[in-house]
Amino acid sequence: MTNSGSRKIVLLTGSTGAIGREIAISLAGKGCELILPVRDAERGKQLVKDILEKAGAQAGPVHLEACDMSSLSSLRNFVRRVQEAYPRLDVLINNAATVPPTRQLTEDGLETQFCVNVLSYFLLMFSLSSFLRKSGKARIINVASNLAGDLDLTDMQFEKRKYNNMLAYKQSKQADRQLSWAGAKFFADSGVKVFAMHPGVTTSAILKGVGYEKGWDSAEFCAKMAVQLVMEEEGMKTMETGTYWVNGEETACPWQENDQECQAVWDYCKKCAGVE
Ligand SMILES: NC(=O)c1ccc[n+]([C@@H]2O[C@H](COP(=O)([O-])OP(=O)(O)OC[C@H]3O[C@@H](n4cnc5c(N)ncnc54)[C@H](OP(=O)(O)O)[C@@H]3O)[C@@H](O)[C@H]2O)c1
Repeated sequence: MTNSGSRKIVLLTGSTGAIGREIAISLAGKGCELILPVRDAERGKQLVKDILEKAGAQAGPVHLEACDMSSLSSLRNFVRRVQEAYPRLDVLINNAATVPPTRQLTEDGLETQFCVNVLSYFLLMFSLSSFLRKSGKARIINVASNLAGDLDLTDMQFEKRKYNNMLAYKQSKQADRQLSWAGAKFFADSGVKVFAMHPGVTTSAILKGVGYEKGWDSAEFCAKMAVQLVMEEEGMKTMETGTYWVNGEETACPWQENDQECQAVWDYCKKCAGVE
């Protein structure tokens, strides 16, 4: 249960990772109340301890929740718990991602990268939509990447093409942006704004998974863009929904104008998630 008061309530996925952890520490330090879905309870407990130590006296409450983003039933249970236990949701940050070296299937028979990197983003946006609308001016921040492209709408789960984890990752990060642009339209009649962003490049399991030993930015730097999108009230006035952010700047995205394809990615996710 929560006693959120006027604090922003922020749901952040992938908080045990390099960038997510720094986003969590920074937002906790700014007094946000955090909901952190994790798949390993012990690592989650250690993370909360670290966040509270680092965030200092201003730290808002941090709530751990169980969720495996590669399982549709786990995602649905998590969504239900969020709606039961919290009064509203002000910010959703979709940040979890994975890059398995070989094509792997989830318990639902979905290609794992597609499920974690794309479908979990969609499901949380879609299934929590009424909850987000309730907040009045909620924000959704989808952590995407500049490393994006090669999306094939006829082969979203590498059933036809030979699986290549870099190709699948690039496709998933293009899909994250396209879901954001379709999501901005989906929420257009509400106060909910949807952004996508590139965090920077830092050493992590994801970066290693796509073949780079080391990044050139610190994890703290990579957390900044998401934190700015959450916190900058003044800047927010000029931040239009459906925009792409890199290094503190609004940046053009080649898929922003392609409404039809963005909608097709959204509709494909709806079908895979079995939602209407
Ligand atoms: N690092 C970069 O240079 C870079 C550049 C551009 C974009 N990005 C994006 O930034 C985001 C964060 O990446 P990162 O570099 O911080 O990666 P990371 O350190 O590998 O963290 C990935 C996070 O996703 C979580 N995750 C993976 N599979 C999951 C599952 N099935 N269920 C629940 N959680 C799961 C991981 O949880 P566990 O700890 O349980 O594995 C971890 O918290 C990603 O969206 C990535 O695409 C990163």
